[in-house]
Amino acid sequence: MAKKDRYAVFGNPIKHSKSPRIHKMFVEQTNQQMEYTAKEVPAEKFFTAVTDFFDHGGKGLNCTLPLKELAFDFADEKTERAEICKAVNTLAVKANGKILGDNTDGCGLITDLKNNRVDIKNARVLLLGAGGASRGILAPILEQSPRHLILANRTRKKADDLAEEFHLYGFVDGSGFAELKGKKFDLIINATSASLYDEMPPVESGILAENGVCYDLAYGNRPTAFVRWGAEQNARLSLDGLGMLVEQAAEAFYIWRKIRPDTKVVIDSLHAARRFSLDE
Ligand code: ATR
Repeated sequence: MAKKDRYAVFGNPIKHSKSPRIHKMFVEQTNQQMEYTAKEVPAEKFFTAVTDFFDHGGKGLNCTLPLKELAFDFADEKTERAEICKAVNTLAVKANGKILGDNTDGCGLITDLKNNRVDIKNARVLLLGAGGASRGILAPILEQSPRHLILANRTRKKADDLAEEFHLYGFVDGSGFAELKGKKFDLIINATSASLYDEMPPVESGILAENGVCYDLAYGNRPTAFVRWGAEQNARLSLDGLGMLVEQAAEAFYIWRKIRPDTKVVIDSLHAARRFSLDE
């Protein structure tokens, strides 16, 4: 039997990662000779673990929280989109042996929004949170030419600083949460880590425009607090980040194997598994 190429995801925690399942489905679809495993790697062991992985023939890695900035530092070369957000979620060995760092998160979000027929062009967009997750998606959102993008954060200064940094990619303004009152948005994206604690960022009711869409970058086996809030606000769609997760994985798979898997069947299968786990 042919030897399998080795890929993995490193993160901390990693136990609940769906990435091995997603890549297994991609592999089955495309008949690739590869394996993909998950490994818990604390930040202080990252450089040793990654060096060891590539020294022993590993072909590619995904890096998730809290390792994306460290992966950026590790990569010998970076793609433009990784340079812009200063974070890397995909490492790949190039033909010359150098390690390339890329970031497929923003592309994953935009593809999932398009799959769900959510058009950013000319939309009034609100992005909640000014941490690493927002940094990864700001430029790809601005590239889609929204009418405007407001970046709101609990700590106002972080929103202003991040907005300032991304000004050259399009119109983006920093804001606190209180100033959102009375405004209307066609798309509200939650990139805070509040969902991890089943909390809702402190935004007022009534800021979602008619037919507006809510999108949480986080996902879980149950609807997140933000997804529930979106439904209460009569959102046309209130989605979590499961689709984005599959799409960013597909983009990484393409970087490694130069084959695009069919993501729809994978997303449908994960949705079905989730419904089944809720019925249990
Ligand atoms: P990540 O890499 O996931 O973005 P992070 O860099 O620690 O994580 O950023 C977390 C973001 O979620 C921050 O914008 C944080 O707001 P502050 O900068 O004010 O800390 C935001 N956040 C976390 N919990 C929140 C909550 N309960 N309500 C509102 N914002 C919250």
